[in-house]
Amino acid sequence: MSLQGKLAVVTGASSGIGRATAELLRDEGMRVIGVDINEEKLKKISGIEHLVTDLSNDEGRNKVVKVGNGAHALVNAAGLIRLKKIEDFTTTDIREIYAVNVEAPWFLMSNLGRVMKDGGSIVNLSSVSARLTVTQETAIYASSKTALLAMTRSWAHAYAPRNINVNAILPGITDTPMQDLVLRKLSELRNIPYETLSTSRLESVPMKRAASPREIAGFIRFLISDEGKYITGQSLSQDGGAVM
Ligand SMILES: NC(=O)c1ccc[n+]([C@@H]2O[C@H](COP(=O)([O-])OP(=O)(O)OC[C@H]3O[C@@H](n4cnc5c(N)ncnc54)[C@H](O)[C@@H]3O)[C@@H](O)[C@H]2O)c1
Repeated sequence: MSLQGKLAVVTGASSGIGRATAELLRDEGMRVIGVDINEEKLKKISGIEHLVTDLSNDEGRNKVVKVGNGAHALVNAAGLIRLKKIEDFTTTDIREIYAVNVEAPWFLMSNLGRVMKDGGSIVNLSSVSARLTVTQETAIYASSKTALLAMTRSWAHAYAPRNINVNAILPGITDTPMQDLVLRKLSELRNIPYETLSTSRLESVPMKRAASPREIAGFIRFLISDEGKYITGQSLSQDGGAVM
C-alpha cells in the first residue's frame, strides 16, 4: 500500500530535517500537516498545511492532536539545543530544553498516538549525542535525546498490538540551521574560529562528511512505509559510522 493520500503530522517542519521530511512526504502524495513555532519560515513551504504552535506547552500540543486525528504518521522532528559551559546550565535550561525535546514527543505519542490510524508509524528524532559525548556544551540536549530513546521503546510496546511502529533515528552531523548554531556557539565558547570547527567536526566521522536533511527524510519515509513496518522500538543510527 502506498503512502498516497494518507495524513502525516511533522513537527519542526519549517527547518532542516523536519522541512525535508514534510517536502518529501508531500512529494509522495501524502497530506502533510507541518507544525512549527516559526510562522514566517513555515508559511514558505508550499503544498502542505501549516499549524503554527508552541510545542513547549500543553495548549500548543493539544492543537496538534486536534488536527492530527486519523493520521497515518507522526514525525517528532522539532528540537531545541542550547550550548553553555557545562557548569553554567540552570534548571530553567533543563526545563526549557526538556519541554520541547522530551515532553512534546511524549505528549504527542500519547495523545495523538491514541487517535492515529492502526497500522501507522511514529518516528522520533533523537541524536548521535545520545550515544557519544564529544561536546560537554550540549550536555542537557544530549540527555534529553537519551530520554527519548527510552520513551520510544515504551511506546513501541504500547502500540505494537495496533501495528503502529515507533522508532528513533539518531542522526549524526546533519547540515541544518541547528548545526550552524552549534558551530557558532562552540566557536564563541571555545574561542576557536568557526571554519576550524567546521572542518574538525568531521574528523571523527569515518565517512568524513555531514548528512543532508534529505537523507534523514528518506530513512523516515522508509520507516513509515509498509516495508519498514516490522521495525519497531529501535534506536537507529544514521551517522556516517560515527558510532559503530
Ligand atoms: N542537525 C543535526 O546535526 C542533528 C543531529 C542529530 C539530531 N538532530 C535532531 O533532529 C531534529 C531536527 O533538527 P534540525 O537540525 O532540523 O533542527 P532545526 O533547528 O533546523 O529545526 C528545528 C525546528 O524545531 C522548531 N521548534 C523549536 N522549538 C519549538 C517549539 N517550542 N514549538 C514548535 N516548534 C519548535 C524550530 O522552529 C525549528 O524549525 C531535532 O530534534 C534535532 O535535535 C539534528
